[in-house]
Amino acid sequence: MVDREELESVCKRRGFMWPSSEIYGGEAGFYDYGHLGARLKDGWELIWKDFFLGLNDNYHMIYTPNILPYRALKASGHVDLFSDIIVHCMRCSASYRADHLITDLTGKNVEGLNASEIEGMIKENEMKCPSCNGNFSEAEEFNMMFSLSIGPTGEHKGFLRPETAQGSYMNFFREYRALRRQMPMGLATIGNAFRNEISPRQGVYRLREFLQAELQIFFIPDTNDMTFEDMYDGKAEVTVLLDGEEEARRVRMDELEDLPVFYRSHLAKVYEFYREHMNLAPEDVRLRELSKEEKAFYNLIHFDVEINMPSLGGWKEVGGIHYRGDYDLTKHQEESGTKMSIPVNGTRVVPHVLELSFGVDRNIWAVLDRGYRLDEREWLSLPKRCAPYHVAVFPLVRKDGLEERSREIYKVIKREFRAFWDRSGSVGKRYARMDEIGTPLCITTDYETPEDDTVTVRDITSKEQVRVKVPELIDIIGSIIDGEKEFGELQR
Ligand code: GAP
Repeated sequence: MVDREELESVCKRRGFMWPSSEIYGGEAGFYDYGHLGARLKDGWELIWKDFFLGLNDNYHMIYTPNILPYRALKASGHVDLFSDIIVHCMRCSASYRADHLITDLTGKNVEGLNASEIEGMIKENEMKCPSCNGNFSEAEEFNMMFSLSIGPTGEHKGFLRPETAQGSYMNFFREYRALRRQMPMGLATIGNAFRNEISPRQGVYRLREFLQAELQIFFIPDTNDMTFEDMYDGKAEVTVLLDGEEEARRVRMDELEDLPVFYRSHLAKVYEFYREHMNLAPEDVRLRELSKEEKAFYNLIHFDVEINMPSLGGWKEVGGIHYRGDYDLTKHQEESGTKMSIPVNGTRVVPHVLELSFGVDRNIWAVLDRGYRLDEREWLSLPKRCAPYHVAVFPLVRKDGLEERSREIYKVIKREFRAFWDRSGSVGKRYARMDEIGTPLCITTDYETPEDDTVTVRDITSKEQVRVKVPELIDIIGSIIDGEKEFGELQR
């Protein structure tokens, strides 16, 4: 259990992340990743790509710009519908996101209410500004996109993209042809998204510029079911909180029979990603079904992935599995005039979209929150592949050729893994430094090394050490980092 201030302080001290433009006092909603945070983020992204692109041979990465023209976001519905409801204090001019304000003051979830309903609640509950007790203005819609002008004379209006998804939709037809007209087809991207959040808060949880990892899966319902059926095991268990139920519960995937096969198969895989690759216990990650009022305007079926994060007060959304139907391609077809339909059994059909959407920053925070440990030492238990460094290499002492030998070993290991070399301070201090940043393995050359070509390998969790032959190191590190072997198995 860690509170937010404590974890933020660890993140700053060690070099993970902190508010951006700090030297000028910062601007709420923007964060920097330091040298360890960048490594952790890269590690998470690699695991994400390996796992989700590995679900189907026709799922691929693409990269598209951050700036989108007005027409693209008019077509997608963001110009007209992507808004939150805002109220201003008439005395101190503070602005509030009205639904959060009401939830904070009354504990009620008011997601989905319109501006006049929200205003009614504010009046009914006689709410006042929390900072100066002033009265509120009328509630109004506030579009969350950052708008900008493109070109020297500003003749073209554009926006910073509010989600990465639109780049994949606009490229659907070009990629469909380039990929030899196969369905299902997946276009994934990892990149920045921008939202002018009214009240950014809880550190990286609500940012104005953040990273998304999104996979858009284009498919033809029913026709492509065969492809999805084999993807998962119906007996696999997941933790779900279904709409209308009070408590989360464990269910087998085949019990979720109301969900279409394409949806269920990917829901199962998302859960597997968190259980097996993020090492989360079943009681710490759940799939929450959203009600009609809560769902985004484009979604037909919507479950959020939620992780229990003590530092943020409990269950928090880190991703979503969104069935967007043919909404996006139809809208872009209408606005652009570009054909988005494909031939299916003699007719033309606009493919549907299943979107697997993740906030990278929230996921990184979750990894740190769930990984922070304070017992007789302060250390991080991270998913091993994600860790900023997989392995550290040290000489026991700097003399008698041990330093040179450890440096040679380090150079070989570095070609395969994220490795760190350290010769300063005592070995105990070096272990402590690596524990603090979550390095799973430490390798030390000592006086036995020149004699029998062995080194010690130390495990971060148990702090146990085993002797290993140097030529076996690469295989052993790989099997531990990839989770194929437990450290304890090395001792047998
Ligand atoms: N393309 C679908 C989409 O953008 P979303 O639920 O609005 O859906 C997807 O966003 C994910 O992006 C969320 O699950 C969350 O993890 C992350 N996210 C959204 N807004 C964010 C913000 N202001 N700060 C940090 N992450 C955010």
